[in-house]
Amino acid sequence: MKERSARNKTLTLNETERQRLSESIRKLTSEASLSDVTDRIYCQDLLTALPLLPKGFADLLIIDPPYNLSIQFGDLRTRKSSDEEYLQYVLQWLPQTLELLKPDGSVYVCCDWQSSPVIYAALKQCNVHIRNRITWQREKGRGSKSNWKNCTEDIWYGTLSAKDFYFDVESVKQKRKVIAPYVTADGTPKDWEETQDGKFRLTCPSNFWDDISIPYWSMPENTDHPTQKPEKLLAKLILASCPEGGIVADPFLGSGSTAVTAAKLNRHYLGIEMNPEYVLWALKRLETAQTDTRIQGYADGVFWERNSGK
Ligand SMILES: C[S@@+](CC[C@H](N)C(=O)[O-])C[C@H]1O[C@@H](n2cnc3c(N)ncnc32)[C@H](O)[C@@H]1O
Repeated sequence: MKERSARNKTLTLNETERQRLSESIRKLTSEASLSDVTDRIYCQDLLTALPLLPKGFADLLIIDPPYNLSIQFGDLRTRKSSDEEYLQYVLQWLPQTLELLKPDGSVYVCCDWQSSPVIYAALKQCNVHIRNRITWQREKGRGSKSNWKNCTEDIWYGTLSAKDFYFDVESVKQKRKVIAPYVTADGTPKDWEETQDGKFRLTCPSNFWDDISIPYWSMPENTDHPTQKPEKLLAKLILASCPEGGIVADPFLGSGSTAVTAAKLNRHYLGIEMNPEYVLWALKRLETAQTDTRIQGYADGVFWERNSGK
Protein backbone atom coordinates (compact mmCIF):
# COMPACT_ATOMS: atom_id res chain seq x y z
CA MET A 1 0.00 0.00 0.00
CA LYS A 2 1.21 3.55 -0.83
CA GLU A 3 2.50 5.70 2.07
CA ARG A 4 0.24 8.74 2.44
CA SER A 5 0.42 11.84 4.58
CA ALA A 6 -2.01 12.05 7.50
CA ARG A 7 -4.02 14.80 5.74
CA ASN A 8 -4.39 12.77 2.55
CA LYS A 9 -8.01 11.54 2.41
CA THR A 10 -7.64 9.35 -0.72
CA LEU A 11 -9.61 6.13 -0.29
CA THR A 12 -7.60 3.11 0.84
CA LEU A 13 -8.74 -0.43 1.63
CA ASN A 14 -7.22 -2.66 4.28
CA GLU A 15 -7.00 -6.41 3.73
CA THR A 16 -10.12 -7.19 5.80
CA GLU A 17 -12.22 -4.66 3.85
CA ARG A 18 -10.84 -5.93 0.57
CA GLN A 19 -11.86 -9.51 1.39
CA ARG A 20 -15.28 -8.54 2.70
CA LEU A 21 -16.09 -6.30 -0.27
CA SER A 22 -14.79 -8.90 -2.76
CA GLU A 23 -17.64 -11.14 -1.66
CA SER A 24 -20.11 -8.54 -3.01
CA ILE A 25 -18.55 -8.43 -6.50
CA ARG A 26 -21.08 -9.69 -9.04
CA LYS A 27 -21.10 -10.64 -12.69
CA LEU A 28 -24.15 -11.04 -14.94
CA THR A 29 -24.30 -14.46 -16.56
CA SER A 30 -27.97 -14.74 -17.45
CA GLU A 31 -30.83 -12.39 -18.27
CA ALA A 32 -31.70 -10.19 -15.29
CA SER A 33 -34.87 -8.42 -14.20
CA LEU A 34 -35.15 -4.79 -13.12
CA SER A 35 -35.26 -5.72 -9.43
CA ASP A 36 -32.11 -7.87 -9.91
CA VAL A 37 -30.12 -4.98 -11.37
CA THR A 38 -31.40 -2.08 -9.23
CA ASP A 39 -28.67 -0.67 -6.96
CA ARG A 40 -26.14 -3.15 -8.32
CA ILE A 41 -22.64 -2.90 -9.72
CA TYR A 42 -21.47 -5.57 -12.14
CA CYS A 43 -17.80 -6.25 -12.68
CA GLN A 44 -17.38 -7.24 -16.33
CA ASP A 45 -16.95 -6.00 -19.87
CA LEU A 46 -20.08 -4.01 -20.69
CA LEU A 47 -20.37 -5.84 -24.02
CA THR A 48 -21.07 -9.05 -22.08
CA ALA A 49 -23.49 -7.32 -19.67
CA LEU A 50 -25.60 -5.26 -22.10
CA PRO A 51 -27.46 -8.19 -23.75
CA LEU A 52 -28.47 -9.51 -20.29
CA LEU A 53 -29.89 -6.27 -18.88
CA PRO A 54 -33.57 -5.31 -19.04
CA LYS A 55 -34.49 -2.55 -21.49
CA GLY A 56 -36.28 0.77 -21.08
CA PHE A 57 -35.83 1.14 -17.31
CA ALA A 58 -33.33 3.98 -16.75
CA ASP A 59 -34.32 7.62 -16.32
CA LEU A 60 -30.78 8.75 -16.93
CA LEU A 61 -27.62 7.40 -18.53
CA ILE A 62 -24.28 8.90 -17.58
CA ILE A 63 -21.57 7.66 -19.90
CA ASP A 64 -17.91 8.44 -19.21
CA PRO A 65 -16.07 6.15 -21.63
CA PRO A 66 -12.33 5.97 -22.24
CA TYR A 67 -11.57 9.01 -24.42
CA ASN A 68 -9.61 8.62 -27.64
CA LEU A 69 -6.30 8.77 -25.79
CA SER A 70 -3.50 6.42 -24.76
CA ILE A 71 -4.19 5.79 -21.10
CA GLN A 72 -3.86 2.98 -18.57
CA PHE A 73 -6.93 1.81 -16.58
CA GLY A 74 -5.35 -0.91 -14.45
CA ASP A 75 -4.68 -3.76 -16.90
CA LEU A 76 -6.53 -2.03 -19.73
CA ARG A 77 -4.35 0.12 -21.97
CA THR A 78 -6.31 2.29 -24.43
CA ARG A 79 -4.53 3.58 -27.53
CA LYS A 80 -5.17 6.78 -29.42
CA SER A 81 -6.69 5.93 -32.79
CA SER A 82 -8.20 7.79 -35.75
CA ASP A 83 -11.61 9.48 -35.41
CA GLU A 84 -13.08 6.77 -37.67
CA GLU A 85 -11.78 3.97 -35.44
CA TYR A 86 -12.97 5.73 -32.30
CA LEU A 87 -16.43 6.16 -33.88
CA GLN A 88 -16.54 2.41 -34.61
CA TYR A 89 -15.56 1.73 -30.98
CA VAL A 90 -18.34 4.02 -29.66
CA LEU A 91 -20.89 2.45 -31.97
CA GLN A 92 -20.05 -0.98 -30.54
CA TRP A 93 -21.76 -0.09 -27.27
CA LEU A 94 -23.77 3.15 -27.64
CA PRO A 95 -26.89 1.82 -29.43
CA GLN A 96 -27.35 -1.03 -26.94
CA THR A 97 -26.61 1.24 -23.99
CA LEU A 98 -29.30 3.68 -25.14
CA GLU A 99 -31.80 0.78 -25.07
CA LEU A 100 -31.52 0.85 -21.27
CA LEU A 101 -33.30 4.25 -21.26
CA LYS A 102 -37.00 4.86 -20.75
CA PRO A 103 -38.65 6.60 -23.75
CA ASP A 104 -38.50 9.91 -21.80
CA GLY A 105 -34.95 9.29 -20.56
CA SER A 106 -31.88 11.52 -20.83
CA VAL A 107 -28.25 10.82 -21.62
CA TYR A 108 -24.98 12.61 -20.92
CA VAL A 109 -21.72 11.55 -22.58
CA CYS A 110 -18.35 12.86 -21.39
CA CYS A 111 -15.47 13.54 -23.77
CA ASP A 112 -12.50 15.80 -24.45
CA TRP A 113 -12.09 18.27 -27.32
CA GLN A 114 -10.78 15.60 -29.69
CA SER A 115 -13.44 12.96 -29.09
CA SER A 116 -16.24 15.56 -28.81
CA PRO A 117 -17.10 15.69 -32.56
CA VAL A 118 -17.09 11.89 -32.71
CA ILE A 119 -19.45 11.59 -29.74
CA TYR A 120 -21.75 14.18 -31.33
CA ALA A 121 -21.78 12.20 -34.58
CA ALA A 122 -22.42 8.92 -32.75
CA LEU A 123 -25.33 10.38 -30.77
CA LYS A 124 -26.82 11.79 -33.98
CA GLN A 125 -26.42 8.44 -35.69
CA CYS A 126 -28.36 6.85 -32.79
CA ASN A 127 -31.21 9.40 -33.21
CA VAL A 128 -30.63 11.07 -29.86
CA HIS A 129 -32.09 14.59 -29.62
CA ILE A 130 -28.99 16.54 -28.76
CA ARG A 131 -29.97 19.40 -26.46
CA ASN A 132 -26.70 20.94 -25.39
CA ARG A 133 -22.97 20.63 -24.90
CA ILE A 134 -21.71 21.44 -21.43
CA THR A 135 -18.11 22.59 -21.18
CA TRP A 136 -16.52 21.83 -17.85
CA GLN A 137 -13.41 23.82 -16.99
CA ARG A 138 -11.68 21.28 -14.79
CA GLU A 139 -8.64 23.60 -14.42
CA LYS A 140 -6.00 20.95 -13.97
CA GLY A 141 -4.26 19.94 -17.19
CA ARG A 142 -0.77 19.22 -18.42
CA GLY A 143 1.03 22.37 -19.60
CA SER A 144 2.65 22.36 -23.04
CA LYS A 145 5.40 24.49 -24.60
CA SER A 146 3.91 24.20 -28.07
CA ASN A 147 0.16 24.21 -27.46
CA TRP A 148 -2.56 25.62 -25.23
CA LYS A 149 -2.99 23.72 -21.99
CA ASN A 150 -5.99 21.43 -22.24
CA CYS A 151 -8.13 22.03 -19.17
CA THR A 152 -11.72 21.59 -20.32
CA GLU A 153 -13.96 18.65 -21.08
CA ASP A 154 -17.27 18.42 -22.92
CA ILE A 155 -20.42 16.66 -21.80
CA TRP A 156 -23.02 16.11 -24.53
CA TYR A 157 -26.61 16.19 -23.28
CA GLY A 158 -29.45 14.53 -25.17
CA THR A 159 -32.86 12.94 -24.76
CA LEU A 160 -34.59 10.07 -26.53
CA SER A 161 -37.77 12.09 -27.03
CA ALA A 162 -37.95 15.50 -28.69
CA LYS A 163 -40.56 16.81 -26.24
CA ASP A 164 -41.07 14.43 -23.38
CA PHE A 165 -38.21 14.53 -20.88
CA TYR A 166 -37.48 15.50 -17.28
CA PHE A 167 -35.45 18.63 -16.51
CA ASP A 168 -35.54 20.28 -13.08
CA VAL A 169 -33.67 23.56 -13.30
CA GLU A 170 -34.71 24.64 -9.79
CA SER A 171 -32.66 21.82 -8.27
CA VAL A 172 -29.40 22.91 -9.94
CA LYS A 173 -29.33 26.61 -9.23
CA GLN A 174 -25.99 28.16 -8.42
CA LYS A 175 -25.21 30.43 -5.52
CA ARG A 176 -22.96 33.20 -6.82
CA LYS A 177 -21.40 36.15 -5.02
CA VAL A 178 -22.87 39.44 -6.23
CA ILE A 179 -20.19 41.82 -7.49
CA ALA A 180 -22.41 44.90 -7.96
CA PRO A 181 -25.44 44.52 -5.65
CA TYR A 182 -28.22 46.59 -7.23
CA VAL A 183 -30.72 48.19 -4.90
CA THR A 184 -34.11 49.49 -6.09
CA ALA A 185 -35.34 53.04 -5.30
CA ASP A 186 -36.99 51.89 -2.08
CA GLY A 187 -33.75 50.23 -0.93
CA THR A 188 -34.73 46.60 -1.66
CA PRO A 189 -32.03 44.27 -3.00
CA LYS A 190 -32.75 43.26 -6.62
CA ASP A 191 -32.37 39.47 -7.18
CA TRP A 192 -29.92 38.96 -4.30
CA GLU A 193 -29.89 38.37 -0.56
CA GLU A 194 -27.59 39.29 2.27
CA THR A 195 -26.36 36.34 4.35
CA GLN A 196 -23.73 36.05 7.08
CA ASP A 197 -21.25 34.93 4.34
CA GLY A 198 -21.95 37.93 2.07
CA LYS A 199 -24.30 38.96 -0.75
CA PHE A 200 -25.47 36.14 -3.00
CA ARG A 201 -27.72 35.56 -5.97
CA LEU A 202 -29.28 32.26 -7.05
CA THR A 203 -28.76 31.87 -10.80
CA CYS A 204 -29.81 29.43 -13.51
CA PRO A 205 -26.80 27.33 -14.50
CA SER A 206 -25.32 27.82 -17.98
CA ASN A 207 -23.58 25.24 -20.16
CA PHE A 208 -20.16 26.49 -19.03
CA TRP A 209 -19.18 24.98 -15.68
CA ASP A 210 -16.27 26.64 -13.93
CA ASP A 211 -17.27 25.84 -10.35
CA ILE A 212 -16.07 22.23 -10.09
CA SER A 213 -12.57 20.92 -9.35
CA ILE A 214 -11.41 17.41 -10.17
CA PRO A 215 -11.16 15.28 -7.00
CA TYR A 216 -7.79 15.70 -5.29
CA TRP A 217 -5.98 14.23 -2.29
CA SER A 218 -7.62 16.29 0.46
CA MET A 219 -11.16 15.37 -0.66
CA PRO A 220 -12.78 12.29 0.95
CA GLU A 221 -14.25 11.28 -2.43
CA ASN A 222 -10.77 10.95 -3.98
CA THR A 223 -9.49 7.56 -5.17
CA ASP A 224 -6.48 6.49 -7.24
CA HIS A 225 -8.65 6.17 -10.37
CA PRO A 226 -6.83 8.02 -13.19
CA THR A 227 -9.90 9.86 -14.53
CA GLN A 228 -12.35 10.13 -11.65
CA LYS A 229 -15.27 12.55 -12.08
CA PRO A 230 -16.27 14.81 -9.17
CA GLU A 231 -19.46 14.06 -7.24
CA LYS A 232 -20.46 17.72 -7.59
CA LEU A 233 -20.51 17.40 -11.39
CA LEU A 234 -22.55 14.19 -11.25
CA ALA A 235 -24.92 15.76 -8.73
CA LYS A 236 -25.83 18.45 -11.28
CA LEU A 237 -26.56 15.89 -13.99
CA ILE A 238 -28.55 13.65 -11.65
CA LEU A 239 -30.61 16.37 -9.97
CA ALA A 240 -31.46 18.02 -13.29
CA SER A 241 -32.30 14.88 -15.27
CA CYS A 242 -33.43 12.11 -12.91
CA PRO A 243 -36.42 12.46 -10.54
CA GLU A 244 -36.06 11.39 -6.94
CA GLY A 245 -36.51 7.60 -6.73
CA GLY A 246 -35.54 7.23 -10.41
CA ILE A 247 -32.67 5.13 -11.72
CA VAL A 248 -29.33 6.22 -13.17
CA ALA A 249 -27.21 3.80 -15.21
CA ASP A 250 -23.47 4.14 -15.87
CA PRO A 251 -21.80 1.55 -18.12
CA PHE A 252 -18.22 2.79 -17.41
CA LEU A 253 -18.55 3.22 -13.67
CA GLY A 254 -14.85 3.52 -12.76
CA SER A 255 -14.49 4.32 -9.07
CA GLY A 256 -18.27 4.50 -8.61
CA SER A 257 -18.84 8.27 -8.65
CA THR A 258 -22.21 8.07 -10.45
CA ALA A 259 -23.58 5.32 -8.20
CA VAL A 260 -22.36 7.02 -5.02
CA THR A 261 -23.80 10.40 -6.00
CA ALA A 262 -27.11 8.82 -7.05
CA ALA A 263 -27.36 7.03 -3.69
CA LYS A 264 -26.58 10.26 -1.81
CA LEU A 265 -29.38 12.01 -3.71
CA ASN A 266 -32.01 9.27 -3.18
CA ARG A 267 -31.85 7.88 -6.70
CA HIS A 268 -31.23 4.24 -7.65
CA TYR A 269 -28.25 3.17 -9.73
CA LEU A 270 -26.83 0.47 -11.95
CA GLY A 271 -23.13 0.41 -12.76
CA ILE A 272 -20.82 -1.70 -14.90
CA GLU A 273 -17.05 -1.62 -14.55
CA MET A 274 -14.59 -4.24 -15.77
CA ASN A 275 -11.75 -3.49 -13.33
CA PRO A 276 -12.25 -5.38 -10.01
CA GLU A 277 -10.07 -2.97 -8.03
CA TYR A 278 -12.20 0.01 -9.13
CA VAL A 279 -15.34 -1.95 -8.22
CA LEU A 280 -13.98 -2.48 -4.71
CA TRP A 281 -13.45 1.28 -4.38
CA ALA A 282 -16.99 1.89 -5.61
CA LEU A 283 -18.41 -0.58 -3.09
CA LYS A 284 -16.46 1.02 -0.27
CA ARG A 285 -17.65 4.49 -1.29
CA LEU A 286 -21.25 3.24 -1.38
CA GLU A 287 -20.89 1.89 2.13
CA THR A 288 -19.60 5.24 3.37
CA ALA A 289 -22.44 7.04 1.58
CA GLN A 290 -24.96 5.20 3.75
CA THR A 291 -23.95 7.37 6.70
CA ASP A 292 -22.34 10.38 5.03
CA THR A 293 -24.37 11.92 2.20
CA ARG A 294 -22.36 15.13 1.89
CA ILE A 295 -21.30 16.24 -1.60
CA GLN A 296 -18.46 18.74 -1.64
CA GLY A 297 -19.62 22.02 -3.19
CA TYR A 298 -23.35 21.19 -2.89
CA ALA A 299 -24.91 22.24 0.40
CA ASP A 300 -28.29 23.56 1.57
CA GLY A 301 -29.83 22.55 -1.76
CA VAL A 302 -27.60 24.81 -3.88
CA PHE A 303 -24.33 24.61 -5.80
CA TRP A 304 -21.65 26.90 -4.40
CA GLU A 305 -18.76 28.49 -6.25
CA ARG A 306 -15.41 26.70 -6.41
CA ASN A 307 -13.40 26.92 -3.15
CA SER A 308 -16.35 28.39 -1.23
CA GLY A 309 -15.57 26.07 1.69
CA LYS A 310 -18.96 24.32 1.24
C1 LIG B 1 -13.25 7.39 -17.94
S1 LIG B 1 -13.31 6.06 -16.81
C2 LIG B 1 -14.77 6.40 -15.86
C3 LIG B 1 -14.46 7.10 -14.57
C4 LIG B 1 -15.66 7.27 -13.68
N1 LIG B 1 -16.60 8.22 -14.24
C5 LIG B 1 -15.27 7.71 -12.27
O1 LIG B 1 -15.71 8.79 -11.82
O2 LIG B 1 -14.49 7.02 -11.63
C6 LIG B 1 -13.76 4.73 -17.84
C7 LIG B 1 -13.86 3.42 -17.10
O3 LIG B 1 -14.39 2.44 -17.98
C8 LIG B 1 -13.79 1.19 -17.70
N2 LIG B 1 -13.95 0.40 -18.93
C9 LIG B 1 -13.32 0.55 -20.10
N3 LIG B 1 -13.77 -0.32 -21.02
C10 LIG B 1 -14.76 -1.03 -20.41
C11 LIG B 1 -15.62 -2.06 -20.84
N4 LIG B 1 -15.57 -2.55 -22.08
N5 LIG B 1 -16.52 -2.55 -19.96
C12 LIG B 1 -16.59 -2.07 -18.68
N6 LIG B 1 -15.79 -1.09 -18.21
C13 LIG B 1 -14.88 -0.57 -19.06
C14 LIG B 1 -12.36 1.53 -17.31
O4 LIG B 1 -11.80 0.52 -16.49
C15 LIG B 1 -12.53 2.86 -16.58
O5 LIG B 1 -12.62 2.70 -15.19
